[in-house]
Amino acid sequence: MMQLGLSTLSTLAFVAGVLAVPSQPLSSRQQTPFTTTAITTFDEPWAFAFLPDNRILVTEKRGQLRLVDPTTKAKGTITGVPSVRYGGQGGFGDVALHPKFAENNLIYISYAEAGNGGAGAAVARAKLVLNTSGGGSLQNLQVIWRQSQKINGDGHFGHRLLFGSDANSTLWISSGERQQFDPAQSMTTNLGKILRLNDDGSIPAEGNPFADRGGVTAQVWALGIRNPLGIDFDEQGRLWEIEMGPMGGDEINLIEKGANYGWPVVSQGNHYDGRQIPKHNTRPEFVAPKAFWNPVISPAGLIIYKGNLFSGWKGNAIISALGAQGLVRVEMNGNTAREAQRIGMGRRIRGIRQSADGAIWVIEDGAGGRLLKLTPR
Ligand SMILES: *[C@@H]1O[C@H](CO)[C@@H](O)[C@H](O)[C@H]1NC(C)=O
Ligand SMILES: *[C@@H]1O[C@H](CO)[C@@H](O)[C@H](O)[C@H]1NC(C)=O
Repeated sequence: MMQLGLSTLSTLAFVAGVLAVPSQPLSSRQQTPFTTTAITTFDEPWAFAFLPDNRILVTEKRGQLRLVDPTTKAKGTITGVPSVRYGGQGGFGDVALHPKFAENNLIYISYAEAGNGGAGAAVARAKLVLNTSGGGSLQNLQVIWRQSQKINGDGHFGHRLLFGSDANSTLWISSGERQQFDPAQSMTTNLGKILRLNDDGSIPAEGNPFADRGGVTAQVWALGIRNPLGIDFDEQGRLWEIEMGPMGGDEINLIEKGANYGWPVVSQGNHYDGRQIPKHNTRPEFVAPKAFWNPVISPAGLIIYKGNLFSGWKGNAIISALGAQGLVRVEMNGNTAREAQRIGMGRRIRGIRQSADGAIWVIEDGAGGRLLKLTPR
């Protein structure tokens, strides 16, 4: 496909009067729409979360929890993280503050743990106790959730955490299918699902579509999920999810209560060994993605932008991408979604968050991954 140069685009804009969003992804040769401020580097960072005082908790895959002050760039350590199973896609995962953190100091972490039969994702909560030298510890740590079986191998943990804004502080967990395919369709396991729990790991009194079936089935909100690495609510309270698909099938889904997203029965991609997978239009009973990518972008994190700083981006999905090495902006219009912009950053981008002032923060993948603050140019 021919790439239009900047000057050609400007000419077109002049001739047409209006420059429509190009249907081709914007080239990384274009200037990024933001100014990038590097804070500091980390050892294989995976996720981060803002404290009310604007300091930032950062997880490192080998099992370290770090605390960084973006003003001074000082970096401390929080002790008390359980030992994680590090390797492949596994290790220390997500970190999230309880919505009432100001009152209870609770943080939630996800990680891969070793056990009988291999590895599995777990979620724990603990009280964050900070000291005056920029460090601290996790206290009264309590494991509140586990994947229902340990699996040999280190892929597809998922394990993103997200709190609802409801009075009960409902906790959402994205649970990957551990590269086992069929568990995503099985109602006797919590692998390959989007789950909804109380903040102590118990089943909510109201709302879960399969609550009457008991056991792990009661945790399930949606099924047929592969490797879900980003979940966020939009301003209408709708839940969006991105997942790494197989070859040619990365997805953004609008998650509906009780819905089945079809993995591994249908996909817009195919298996890596070349075997075909039936497409979504062959099985309308499975909910199709709102957009998919072929070639893939390898989505690793998601926010639905809710700020005003980046004008025109409110309500858009901003995806941090590993393979695409940058950000992918998706515009949603009602129930539809389409890629609007691709911003090349030349690095695999692992995590993404928005700060209260509307700035976008991202963290790079791998050894020496940087925490970056992005503000409009
Ligand atoms: C603060 O916590 C860190 C990590 O636990 C520790 O290394 C440091 O010594 C602590 N500082 C003080 C003053 O307690
Ligand atoms: C919130 O929790 C309370 C106490 O468990 C329960 O009675 C209530 O039904 C819950 N609300 C929802 C919407 O689940």
